[in-house]
Amino acid sequence: MASHENFDLAHLGGIELFTPKFEESLHFFRDILAMREVARIGDSSYLRCWDEYQLYTLKLTASDTNGVGRTLFRATSPEALERRVAAIEKAGLGHGWRDPEVGVGRSYEFEDPDGHLMGLYYDTEHYVPDELDTPALKNQASAFPGRGVNARRMDHINYLASDVNAAGEFWRDVMMSRESERVRLDDGGYGAWWFRFQQKSYDVVYSDDWTGERGRFHHFAIAPDTREDILKAADIFLENKIHIEFGPYKHAINQTFFIYVWEPGGNRIELANAGARLILDPDWPVVEWSQAERAKGQAWGAKTVPTFHTHGTPFVENQEEIDAAAMRGEAYKKPEKDERSE
Ligand SMILES: [Fe+2]
Repeated sequence: MASHENFDLAHLGGIELFTPKFEESLHFFRDILAMREVARIGDSSYLRCWDEYQLYTLKLTASDTNGVGRTLFRATSPEALERRVAAIEKAGLGHGWRDPEVGVGRSYEFEDPDGHLMGLYYDTEHYVPDELDTPALKNQASAFPGRGVNARRMDHINYLASDVNAAGEFWRDVMMSRESERVRLDDGGYGAWWFRFQQKSYDVVYSDDWTGERGRFHHFAIAPDTREDILKAADIFLENKIHIEFGPYKHAINQTFFIYVWEPGGNRIELANAGARLILDPDWPVVEWSQAERAKGQAWGAKTVPTFHTHGTPFVENQEEIDAAAMRGEAYKKPEKDERSE
């Protein structure tokens, strides 16, 4: 039965994304996805979707490489924040408190077992639209942009992990997030693991990184308003020479409608829409898929794109060759654990 601690996290709060092609990536998020830039500080642009109550959800940072920086998660109350921080400290993964910064109050920094940098906070800055961005209806965060993909809100983040089991156990036992679905491999471990904070079917996901690297990024997903927006987005990406990796199609696991693209900096971005689907049962049992069931592909039968467990950011050495070999159907030899670089 779910306990009150299972509801300590409210939602994914903000993601820092690194890009070696800052202007092109900014064009992707601001002009093609129709996010709004609310601040520019140093090498970073802070961007928001039109239906988000917070100041920003994406911090896009110019860098030598791609990949994900710190991910922020909002706690449901100051007490919930303290509870989770105590658990993280006990697990030995805490870095300590950070002073308030753009958009959020003080936050507690930590890392997951795979080395992804994270932060937890409660205090947040609510977005106040200017005259141009004021919506017609006062129950909406800002004006509907009516251009490009019209990205509505940040939905979830998916990390690659060298050890999905360890990362998943952390989210289940320390963060107290509930499992929604998972893929059990024939060797007994998990190939992918989905977690939810509230009634949305997933907020954090881990997938097996076949390169064996630690701390890489798979994708984050932004929800447009409707499934049809994803079909229209496919045309917009095509027109703008954005690489479409997979979709539009429907996931078997969690049944979201999706498209995956690589933004100009090489990071994988998903547009996902769950329709009306929520998990209302607080004690909904985790749905487990076998390796054979997973191999059947996505909802309507299309096989999962071969680059799904190889393409991640930051790129590994020979990333292009590894992805190309995967697309040719060549079996990727996963390094044994003791062969992997630390
Ligand atoms: Fe996703």
